[in-house]
Amino acid sequence: MSIETRPLHPTIGAAMTGIDARRPQTREEVAAVEAGMDRHAVLVLPGQDLTDEQQLAFTRNFGPLQEGANTTLTATTLRLGAAFADVSNLDKNNERLQRDDRRRMAALGNRLWHSDATFRVVPARYSLLSGRIVTTDGGNTEFADMRAAYDALDAATKAEIEDLVCEHSLIYSRGQLGFTDFTDEERHRMRPVLHRLVRTHPVTGRKSLLLSAHIGAIVGWPRPEAMAFVRDLMEHATQPQFVYVHRWTRNDLVIWDNRQTMHRVRRFDDLNIVRDMRRTTTMSEGPTVAQQAA
Ligand code: OGA
Ligand code: MN
Repeated sequence: MSIETRPLHPTIGAAMTGIDARRPQTREEVAAVEAGMDRHAVLVLPGQDLTDEQQLAFTRNFGPLQEGANTTLTATTLRLGAAFADVSNLDKNNERLQRDDRRRMAALGNRLWHSDATFRVVPARYSLLSGRIVTTDGGNTEFADMRAAYDALDAATKAEIEDLVCEHSLIYSRGQLGFTDFTDEERHRMRPVLHRLVRTHPVTGRKSLLLSAHIGAIVGWPRPEAMAFVRDLMEHATQPQFVYVHRWTRNDLVIWDNRQTMHRVRRFDDLNIVRDMRRTTTMSEGPTVAQQAA
């Protein structure tokens, strides 16, 4: 089967056919996916009717798994294995989450523009999201090209941000939505980590903006000034010309490179409609900056 790539947007996102993610991949196939990812940052592989085991096996082609996405909140009962981020609106009995369910409250954070796992010292490389039950009325996933957004900044802004370092935490992103009821233990576990604001892609050498809803401070800046600036950069980076909007078809497998994109999910009627999306994630090469001594 020959591998073909069709761009979905001028700079970000392409559909890739000719890969069967259910089967073991040859080295050439893995290299083709990686080359497609380096270039397009988001790949849509349609018609991938995966079991959880097949999704995990396919994901392992792209580096070590980032696990534990669902255990950041204490006392959640898992529907999927620990290597999955369950971004469905279902509980462990496959019932829709109730309106005030704590897991639903936390998941609403995915409606804010973010890059996955930037609240960890080693953030995510690829996220692979499998659309098992998709929505057509709402529930699109949007992707912003953080390379194009960086390139479009003026020279003075580029110089100003070159060496800035931000604090990232789930407490900050959830706090933006008013979800603040964390236990002391959770607050300790989710204490901020540091990341550069400008990062360089290890393969292409391109610079991009490392923005995420998880940002709550810029090191050395007064907090309101930092947050106002981050908002400006977010607004810049998510202008329509930088954004690919993905409308889901069942069994789409969408892969994004968190090192050069942000994403968010759009609102849908999650109290009445089922959306079963399962994410696996690989780790990036390492920290973007040395962490402060604790
Ligand atoms: C994710 C995420 C978006 C979506 O899986 O990391 O943010 O469309 N999900 O559910
Ligand atoms: Mn996400």
